[in-house]
Amino acid sequence: MIYRAFGNTSFKASTIGMGTYYDIRWIFKSYLNIYTGKEQKINALKAGMDNGINLIDTAELYRTEKIIGSAIKDYKRDELFIASKVFPTHLYPKSLERTLNKSLKNLNTSYVDLEQIHFPNPAIDLKKTLRAMEKMITQGKMKYIGLSNFTLNQLKRAQGMLSKYEISSMQINYNIFHRKSQKTIIDYCEKNHIAVMAYFPLGHGKVTQPQFNKYFDHIRESIGDVPNANIALSYLISRNNNVFPIPRASNSTHVLQNAKYSDIVLKEDEMQYLESKL
Ligand SMILES: NC(=O)c1ccc[n+]([C@@H]2O[C@H](COP(=O)([O-])OP(=O)(O)OC[C@H]3O[C@@H](n4cnc5c(N)ncnc54)[C@H](OP(=O)(O)O)[C@@H]3O)[C@@H](O)[C@H]2O)c1
Repeated sequence: MIYRAFGNTSFKASTIGMGTYYDIRWIFKSYLNIYTGKEQKINALKAGMDNGINLIDTAELYRTEKIIGSAIKDYKRDELFIASKVFPTHLYPKSLERTLNKSLKNLNTSYVDLEQIHFPNPAIDLKKTLRAMEKMITQGKMKYIGLSNFTLNQLKRAQGMLSKYEISSMQINYNIFHRKSQKTIIDYCEKNHIAVMAYFPLGHGKVTQPQFNKYFDHIRESIGDVPNANIALSYLISRNNNVFPIPRASNSTHVLQNAKYSDIVLKEDEMQYLESKL
C-alpha cells in the first residue's frame, strides 16, 4: 500500500480508500431500520483496514455512518482517517453543528478527520458555514475541512473565506473515462497541497466491461496479470500525487483485490496509452 500525506494535513492516508455509498434502496430501507447485507458490508470495511486501507468516506446522506461505527470499533482510531459530508440543506451553522454531532454519534467517535460540504448551496452564506466549521475544529469535533462537487472558482472563493484553517480536500467525479478536471481542479489542488478524493474511480464499475479489456491487456503486457479495475485505480494515483480514489467497499473480495494491487504505479507511456484509447 502506498501512503501519502492527505493534502496539507500530516495524516498519511492510503492512496486507495473505501467509499460507502451503496445505493438508493439502502438509503430508503435504512429509514425503516432495514439494513440488508450489513455484516457483509462491515466485513468488507474490516478486510480493507486489515490490509492497510485507512481512509474511509461516508456522508450523512449515505446512511452508512453506523456501519462504519461498527466496523472501526476494534481498530485504533488515530490510525484511521474518517471523512463524512454534510448535506447542502444543513449548511446553516446550527444545522451543521447538529449534523456533525449526529455523525459523531453514528460513527461512535469523538471527531471526524474530515467534514466535507457535499454540494455547494448558493442559498446559504458559505462564509458562515466555513467559519462554523473552523469553530468546530477548535472544539475538536473535526480536524479538517473538505469540499465536494465544487468548481475550481468555488474552491478559490472558499479558500478566501477562511480565517484560521485551510481547505484540505476536494472530492470530485474522476476516473479514466472522465478526466476533464485533470488540468483544472486536480493540477490546482496538487500545487496548493489539497487532496483530491476521486469518486466514481471505477466509472461506477464501467472499467470492468469486456470491451475495454484489449486496452488494459496492452498494459498487462508490462505489469502482469492485474485486473482492469486495479489498472484504472493505479492510473489515478500515478497521474498525480494528490489523488485518493475511493472505490465502493461493500464486498470483501473486491476490497482485498483493491488492497492487493494498490502498489502498482504506471509509467508515463502506459498512462499516455490509456489516455489515447479511453
Ligand atoms: N461526493 C459525491 O457526490 C459522491 C458521489 C458518488 C459517490 N461518492 C463516493 O465515491 C464512492 C465510490 O463511488 P461508486 O461506488 O458510485 O463508484 P465506483 O467505486 O466507481 O464503482 C463501484 C462499483 O465498482 C465495483 N467494484 C469495486 N471494486 C471493484 C473491483 N476491484 N473490481 C471490480 N469491481 C469493483 C463495486 O462493486 P461492489 O460494491 O460489489 O464491490 C461497484 O459496483 C462512493 O461509495 C462514495 O463514497 C461520492
